[in-house]
Amino acid sequence: MKTVKAGILGIGNVGTGTYRTLQLNRDKIIESTGMDIEVTKILNRHPDRDRGITIDKNIYVQDAYDIINDPEIDIVVELIGGIEPATTFMADAIKNGKHVVTANKAALAEHGKMLQKLATQNGVMLRFEASVGGGIPIINALTSALLSNDFTEILGIVNGTTNYILTKMTEDGADYEAVLKEAQAKGFAEADPTGDVEGNDVANKLSILLSLVFGVEVPPSRIPTQGITAINKTDIAYANKFGCTIKLLAAAKKVDGKVECDVQPTLIPEEHPLASVNNEFNAIFLHGNAVDDIMFYGKGAGPLPTGSAVVGDMIAIAVAIDKQSAFDSKPLLRYDSDLEYMGEGKNQYYVRLSVDDMPGILGNISSTLGRYGIGIESMMQSTHSKNADETVPLVFIFYETNREVLDEAMEELKNRSFVKSVDSVIRVEK
Ligand SMILES: NC(=O)c1ccc[n+]([C@@H]2O[C@H](COP(=O)([O-])OP(=O)(O)OC[C@H]3O[C@@H](n4cnc5c(N)ncnc54)[C@H](OP(=O)(O)O)[C@@H]3O)[C@@H](O)[C@H]2O)c1
Repeated sequence: MKTVKAGILGIGNVGTGTYRTLQLNRDKIIESTGMDIEVTKILNRHPDRDRGITIDKNIYVQDAYDIINDPEIDIVVELIGGIEPATTFMADAIKNGKHVVTANKAALAEHGKMLQKLATQNGVMLRFEASVGGGIPIINALTSALLSNDFTEILGIVNGTTNYILTKMTEDGADYEAVLKEAQAKGFAEADPTGDVEGNDVANKLSILLSLVFGVEVPPSRIPTQGITAINKTDIAYANKFGCTIKLLAAAKKVDGKVECDVQPTLIPEEHPLASVNNEFNAIFLHGNAVDDIMFYGKGAGPLPTGSAVVGDMIAIAVAIDKQSAFDSKPLLRYDSDLEYMGEGKNQYYVRLSVDDMPGILGNISSTLGRYGIGIESMMQSTHSKNADETVPLVFIFYETNREVLDEAMEELKNRSFVKSVDSVIRVEK
């Protein structure tokens, strides 16, 4: 039996989950691969902290370079998170001829191209299955079993915190703030949830998917991104009346040689496979020209699901080392396509207005929309559910239009005396 040696940087949630997965399934891994993966060093800056797991303290080190410069170590597993010093640690490990495994979507979305190039130049593998969809093996599938496909669409629910919050808001008819507090108390949301609820984490993951699926380089800063903080129970209730549910989606489409992409809350019909992805679960839905529609579903976070993905990468490297094929493995991240990148494309939209309760308003609004080429697919007017200020909600689903055109039309409507406010504009996926 051959042994491959690994060093882990960081022993938090994913670090402990990775170590536990290796402990739990060591015999199974040896049996199925003929390889043993031995963790010989772990970077732990607080060695006395209880990590809820039994680890021989002798393998703890305080300096990342005790791992990065160790000639015995084959694989460096980066699990500290954040862009720096994680990126520098990974780059230095690669330069030292180490294979690198990471779960770090923030560092990859920002510096994936540089790290992948460095890995190729140094003949080592850079693997990052846990960075998108946690335990879901989407990257493995996209870069092997599904390689025969040309994909035209990606839709992903790839953030467990926001999916949990939206699920609870839908099930309990509760408002965002109350559910966020409950999610924090149960450990489903961090004390500072900004990166999750503002959609940045989803944008990082979409940036990685765009490279894998379409071969384009789109940094997260160029992805139009909107989180869930403006979603309220009123819109969720109207969405339900339209037969839809609201999810935070990472969306990308290939249209006429261009890639459209964005991150935003979206109404999806209840019969869409993504509509039933609830709580902390993640799912990635794709359309390929051979496989047709396909969806991956599973736990997008948590120590063991994420540990499963990290260890999967470690096994792939161990097997490649054994076959002596690690040095010429194909890069996973690619930036070779000439597809043009554009932001949000044409979409259908849900719009809720508060208007005065008087006759003739609807005709006025629809003729204004008509001038912008915006057609109304459905409408709901409920004079029985007046707002506190005696205005009434007017709720529409519009046919496909550009967001800029829609925003201009809404600006014009806002100036009408009978329109009190444009309360919500939410994308609709049909
Ligand atoms: N949590 C998930 O379910 C999940 C899922 C998918 C991907 N990920 C990704 O996995 C990575 C790790 O996430 P996590 O949830 O495990 O985070 P975490 O629980 O905060 O663990 C991070 C660990 O890294 C250590 N660390 C941080 N900065 C360090 C530094 N400069 N030097 C040395 N050690 C440092 C921390 O040490 P102390 O404990 O001593 O402070 C901690 O042990 C992130 O990139 C995250 O995005 C996480």
